Amino acid sequence: MTLVNRSLITIDDLSYGEIEALFKLADEMAGAMDEQHGLCRGKIMASLFFEPSTRTRLSFETAMHRLGGNVITAADVGATSLAKGESIADMAKVVGSYVDMIVIRHPWEGAAKVVADYSGVPVINAGDGGHQHPTQTLLDLYTIKKEKKTLKGLKIGLWGDLKYGRTIHSLIFALAKFGANILFYPTPGLEVPEHILEKLTLEYGGELEKHKSLDPAAKEKLFPLDAIYLTPSSPHQLAMMPDVNIQVELKTGIDALYVTRPQKERFTTAEKGKELREKYPVVDKKLLKSKEFRRTLVMHPLPRVDELARELDADPRSMYFKQAARGVPVRMALIALLLGAKDVAIPQEKAPPITYPVYRRDYGPRCPNPRCVSVQETEVKYVRPEFKVVNRRPLTLRCIYCEHGFEPEYVASSDWHEGKTATKKYHSAASHWARKIRTENLIVFRSNKDAESLGFKPSRYVKVRHRRKGTPK
Ligand code: CP
Repeated sequence: MTLVNRSLITIDDLSYGEIEALFKLADEMAGAMDEQHGLCRGKIMASLFFEPSTRTRLSFETAMHRLGGNVITAADVGATSLAKGESIADMAKVVGSYVDMIVIRHPWEGAAKVVADYSGVPVINAGDGGHQHPTQTLLDLYTIKKEKKTLKGLKIGLWGDLKYGRTIHSLIFALAKFGANILFYPTPGLEVPEHILEKLTLEYGGELEKHKSLDPAAKEKLFPLDAIYLTPSSPHQLAMMPDVNIQVELKTGIDALYVTRPQKERFTTAEKGKELREKYPVVDKKLLKSKEFRRTLVMHPLPRVDELARELDADPRSMYFKQAARGVPVRMALIALLLGAKDVAIPQEKAPPITYPVYRRDYGPRCPNPRCVSVQETEVKYVRPEFKVVNRRPLTLRCIYCEHGFEPEYVASSDWHEGKTATKKYHSAASHWARKIRTENLIVFRSNKDAESLGFKPSRYVKVRHRRKGTPK
């Protein structure tokens, strides 16, 4: 296994063993910063930041300079030809022909994947909208491991804006990969999106218990505990202990509390209004007096606004400035590995990575997420809607760019209708008939209108809504 010429778009792109190997190299580099200078001599990294950044951009650029490489930067989309309407794919091809590696931050979810698809060089996602921020997650995990020695079996609380926090979305899967338990403390209305929770349990196993079944005493504590994810390696499986008292679980203490700011730049108008009316809870000394926080690492990807009291900065439990500082050796190790300046021994994974059949057609549904690059990018011939078929019962498709999922209402089979208009029929996706369609022959529709606009007629396996007597025609 090698990391040379690979891209890092989501945290799933790295296995457990690869992350461990990267941390080992980051340790070596942190211990001998001045000795790394020749490693990337002659290499050029493009640092493209089309959203504001202090830590990620400057730590990547510092990392490359410390490795002896060079950096070119575009930190304002308005100063690039994207502002003239150039496609991300064209930009990626051109920049890829200038440099050895691209680091990109972009407001559209999935934009970094498009750059990776077209640039021909390793690409690192430095944050794509509300989707993921995998290198932040690397330094978060690195910090927890350094302080607690392991991640396995730890209880990590995620607090604040869990809906739009891209650092949260990457961290959830990384924690599951490392066998940690997760406590979800969202600001009400900013809960983790459903498609992320579905992927968590589908791909990492374990159990997710939502707030309704949680112990009422736990719900009243501090701020609402909305859900709990128990790793499959946990000795306290909820299914085996239906009356488990979450308070008992929490009494042993929370190992880390990961705080996030409200991501106002992604809020809808309604969310902005709510944010102005309701106070965003603050993590401060008073809150951390509680017994379960005695040995809790207080983490934050930064920048903070008002959600994390400055009085905590001198508290030995506070990790956020250490996290930011550790971004440099972690990113140095990543750059060196992707550019082949260093190689590490990576053990073979016990279980192969999960793969899914891909749904790709020139017509049919687009991603339901309006912030997805496949919806925003006007050059659709470069960014075609494409989905992973992650489940057949119920039929569930997941966008390959932003990972939002949807369940199509209706389906047809290319096998049965091709060339025979009389049999060009569509069926309810939940019907037994639909299940007979082989994945490679699937045609999916969001609505019966979509199916009929493409010339498909309803089969008898379509649930027809009957008009009630007396209702207007
Ligand atoms: N943590 C983080 O992504 O910070 P910046 O937005 O300053 O890069």
